[in-house]
Amino acid sequence: MLKFCAMKKNIVLIGFMGAGKSLVAQRLSRMLGVAFASTDQLIEQKEQRTVAEVFRDSGEEYFRKLEKEIVVKLAQKKNIIIDCGGGVVIQNENLINLKKTGILFYFYTSPEVIYRRTKFHSTRPLLNVSDPLAKIKELLAKRKSYYEQADYVIDTDLQTVEQTADAVLKQLKSAKLI
Ligand code: S3P
Repeated sequence: MLKFCAMKKNIVLIGFMGAGKSLVAQRLSRMLGVAFASTDQLIEQKEQRTVAEVFRDSGEEYFRKLEKEIVVKLAQKKNIIIDCGGGVVIQNENLINLKKTGILFYFYTSPEVIYRRTKFHSTRPLLNVSDPLAKIKELLAKRKSYYEQADYVIDTDLQTVEQTADAVLKQLKSAKLI
């Protein structure tokens, strides 16, 4: 474990729901001794309600507006790890802002593994549908080109949280960013 690491760029984690972004962000934060921020958590704090409630009562468009405002603020910070909600990338402006100060890691996960990891949670409004696997496939196909604009892609299908965090650190070290 490092005490405090001065990073040349923020670490930005993107990827579909269930990719492990939040757990890996927390682990990296502990390992590097730097803060992490989650776009979903910040939305919940600001709104004093859950993401599911925001979707239900105010709609996705409103949620995306909040997400965009939060990304603008986070992208201005230094030395943090940013855990992005799975849909952050669908607004191109978000990708542009995050790239200005951060290095982007896309955690790829296959539809089947996403389905397995998310099926017992009802916290994700977009997957509360009759056929979640079909929805996952549809959204992943739509988002693929956005996710692939990341600087690095890490396949998380067969990886533990620890292994994924190590893979991120390895890439950062070889790029001399930490
Ligand atoms: C979403 C992903 C969720 C959350 C919201 C919408 C998406 O975050 O922001 O339910 O559009 O993919 P996680 O990726 O952290 O589950």
